[in-house]
Formats: sequence, structure tokens, C-alpha cells
Amino acid sequence: MSIAFPLHRNESPLPDGDREAILAAPGFGQYFTDHMASAVWTADSGWHDGKVTALAPIPLHPAAAVLHYAQEIFEGLKAFRHADGSVWLFRPDLNARRFVHSARRLALPVLEEEAFIASIEALVRADESWVPAHDGRTSLYIRPFMFGSEAFLGVRPAAQVSYYVIASPAASYFSGGAAGVTLWVSSTYTRAAEGGTGRAKCGGNYAASLAAQVEAHDNGCQQVLYLSEPGRGYLEESGTMNLFLVTADRELITPGLGTILDGVTRASVLKLAAEHDLKAVERQIGIDELRERCAAGSISEMFAAGTAAVITPILAIKGEGFEQVVGDGEPGSSTLAIREHIVGIQSGRLADSHHWLHRVV
Ligand SMILES: Cc1ncc(COP(=O)(O)O)c(C=O)c1O
Repeated sequence: MSIAFPLHRNESPLPDGDREAILAAPGFGQYFTDHMASAVWTADSGWHDGKVTALAPIPLHPAAAVLHYAQEIFEGLKAFRHADGSVWLFRPDLNARRFVHSARRLALPVLEEEAFIASIEALVRADESWVPAHDGRTSLYIRPFMFGSEAFLGVRPAAQVSYYVIASPAASYFSGGAAGVTLWVSSTYTRAAEGGTGRAKCGGNYAASLAAQVEAHDNGCQQVLYLSEPGRGYLEESGTMNLFLVTADRELITPGLGTILDGVTRASVLKLAAEHDLKAVERQIGIDELRERCAAGSISEMFAAGTAAVITPILAIKGEGFEQVVGDGEPGSSTLAIREHIVGIQSGRLADSHHWLHRVV
């Protein structure tokens, strides 16, 4: 049986003027709306106590499982305001399914797709005034998460689990046009291994990625390009985005699923490929092949795809003892066209011919 998320309205929301000032320049992940959705699961009672309440700190026992053994998963998706004032989610069913997959991998209870989407709808309706105006740049970023909250110091699945959804107004990652990044090919770290948690969206994956991110920044790069082995092997993904290559003979190549995250943006880009005269190919790509083909000019564009930045052009890759420019070192035309296509659908400017939008308000 699916749970409901009745609203207990925040009696002290942020004053209108303060909220408007935040919405004028929200940045990313800095400000949070007036409410949060939540529910609790216990081994005895299953999911219960669904509600939307005032955003507040979460009371947590110092022995809570998540604090010791990182039994935690999360999701990330956006709500967009259209020109007519309506508010829409982009493919929330895929986030719901990935949340189920992540829950199973982390031995957390499954929250049914219907309840996952109901919790998000309830929060977005409560905080509708926080969904930025239709401008093609801003949106409301939504963060559902679930963790073991049972107070017990033992390594086993928690018998009490908490689920929350919070939301944060977000600007586009790009201020002007689509800026590009240089990726750091780490020779020290990998992100995931066969049989590990690479395909789950769990906090532990990101904790383990921070040292690699520092290494990338120390080497003048904005993001990490993870390989299957430190410094060699096959392309996996970037820190928070999936990878795509465009070849001179119009193939759109992306690493196959396995140890990488099954990105919602990735799935959408693959679906749109044919409309951009590109043949979608999912296969392993070695770092040597990438470097050789970039040098020879047969890989002309590279980009990363994820909810936060939608599409990020990759202008160069760098690693121990090498730096390789991709194409002419500028965002490629297919990259920009695909980005415009997805942003256009999300903002309601282009027809939603694949039926990816889900109306909330
Ligand atoms: C490791 C990783 N890969 C890929 C993605 C892209 O996934 P999505 O397009 O669903 O945001 C993300 C972002 O969530 C991520 O964290």
C-alpha cells in the first residue's frame, strides 16, 4: 500500500522578499525551501508516518547506522516552471526506479515508485513559490534520500530507516553559453569495481571520490575522468556525470552500463541521438583509444551528461605526463545542439515528443 504525504504547513516560512532575493541568484545547493517530505520504515510496520512539514534539523542518535556504516542512498532531479506557470518534473519515473535499485544494493527497504513520486509532488506543491520563474536557466533541484537511522552498533541492515526529500532552487551551471571543462585522468584512484556499488547512487561512492576531486583541482582540472583501473583501462564516467564521445563519422559513443551510474540524462541523450544524425553506440572505450583518436581527429567532440549541468562540453583531458585537446578545444556543435534540445524540452520551449515531462502544478 502506498503512503500519503499530508501537508503540515510551515507557520514561519521565509518572508517573500527574502525568497525573491534568493530566487534572483540561487547558485547551486546553497538555499533550501520552507518544507521537507519525510517517512519512516521499520522492520515491524513497513513504511509509515509520511508527511510534509517545516524544514528542520533531523534528530539522530549518535549510534545511528548511517553515521558509522554509510547505509545511505539518494537521488537528484529537477522541477521546471513553464511559460504558462505550470510546474513539471523531468522523467521522475527513472529516478524512482534507480532509487529502488540503489535501495536493494544497500540493503535498504524499497520505497515504491508511486510513493517516491507522491512525496516529491507533495513537497513541490507545498513549496511551489520556490520554483523559479520560467527563464530557461533556473529550476528547483529536488533531493530525495534514505538512510539507516536505527541506533545500533553492529554491521547489519538497519531495522529503522528514514526517508526525506528536500529542495533547493538552482541556477544553471553555465552563466553565459555552455562553458567547458578539462577532465583529470587519475592514476591513483578508481570510482568503482565489478560487484561493488558503482551503479548505486549511494553517499559512500561520493565520499570516496573526494580525494580524486582534490587531485583534479590540484592539477588545474574541474572534474575527474574515472577509468576502470588507476591510469589505464576503460572510460567509466566523470564525478557526477556520464561521458559521451562524438566521432567524425557521426557515432555517439558512451561506456556501457555495469559499474557506472545509469544516468537519466544519459538515457535521454541516447534516445535523442538519431534526431541529431548520430548513431548511438554503448561500448567499452579504452583511454588509449580515446587519446589516439582525439590526436588523429576522429573523435571530434566529448561531453558529460547529468541532471545538475545537463550537458557539459569536455574541451581537453589531462593525466600524468599528457594533455590532449578534444576537437578544436571549443564546445562542439552536436554537444550544444543536444544540450539545447534537452533544455528546450525541460523548459517547455520544445515539444515533449517522448512524453518525458510529468506535471505537478
Ligand atoms: C556518478 C554519477 N554519474 C552520472 C550522473 C548523471 O546521472 P543523471 O543524469 O541521472 O543526473 C550522476 C548524477 O546524478 C552521478 O552522480
